[in-house]
Amino acid sequence: MKIQGSIALVTGANRGLGLAFAQALLARGANKVYAAARDPKTITLDGVVPLKLDVTNADDIAAAARAAGDVNLVINNAGIALAPALLDADGEDALRRQLETNLFGPLAISRAFAPALAANGGGALVNMLSALSWLSLPTTGAYSVSKSAAWALTNGLRHELRAQGTHVVGLHAAFIDTEMAAHVSAPKTSAADVARIALDGVEAGQEEILIDEVTRQVKGSLSTAKPAYLGA
Ligand SMILES: NC(=O)c1ccc[n+]([C@@H]2O[C@H](COP(=O)([O-])OP(=O)(O)OC[C@H]3O[C@@H](n4cnc5c(N)ncnc54)[C@H](OP(=O)(O)O)[C@@H]3O)[C@@H](O)[C@H]2O)c1
Repeated sequence: MKIQGSIALVTGANRGLGLAFAQALLARGANKVYAAARDPKTITLDGVVPLKLDVTNADDIAAAARAAGDVNLVINNAGIALAPALLDADGEDALRRQLETNLFGPLAISRAFAPALAANGGGALVNMLSALSWLSLPTTGAYSVSKSAAWALTNGLRHELRAQGTHVVGLHAAFIDTEMAAHVSAPKTSAADVARIALDGVEAGQEEILIDEVTRQVKGSLSTAKPAYLGA
């Protein structure tokens, strides 16, 4: 699909990668960009249509789907990464919260917006995943569970939305230079570069977009004798 003339919705569009997506969509000539955020007052970008949308809130999702029935591009960007390890006392609670935002959120958005995408020619659904869909680091156990599950969700949705002509895209990246990775000193891709590469991939019809070399290495290692996820 072409970004120029598209009508897009981005979750978590108030800051970080979501803001970069909204900026890139406007710069490429999207006709309308719904910038969705838990608190619409935090949307400061000119030229977008602010929407209140907590991806874990069923009422917000239903209202957003009613308000944005003209979309043909939905970007499930919102996500959280919480610190507790899987076996910490609060590890199960933290995992459930990450699954609510990173897995069930995109599922609910996809279900709510699938009819609009169908009505508007099929369009595209982009899910923001991670290199950690295929890798668990000592500090990312629960987050990695959520992104692995969201990867499988994306692959399932691709089958279920094929008949209506919706192009489902899994977008994977290693560290991105946003608040989420502020504590990380490893190399990071700028949010603007991630948005640019992702929108190029959407326009090219790619179903899986690997943003950086680290992500390509992690995925490439899966079929080797030393997959990255077995690393110490
Ligand atoms: N940064 C990285 O290194 C990295 C790498 C790979 C993938 N990712 C993924 O990229 C996506 C964007 O992350 P980011 O780096 O931009 O992180 P970020 O700077 O922490 O921003 C997260 C965004 O998600 C929003 N959000 C969180 N929970 C939400 C909810 N329940 N409903 C609606 N919005 C919610 C936040 O809104 P509030 O302002 O209301 O909190 C914020 O806009 C996420 O899916 C993340 O997992 C990030």
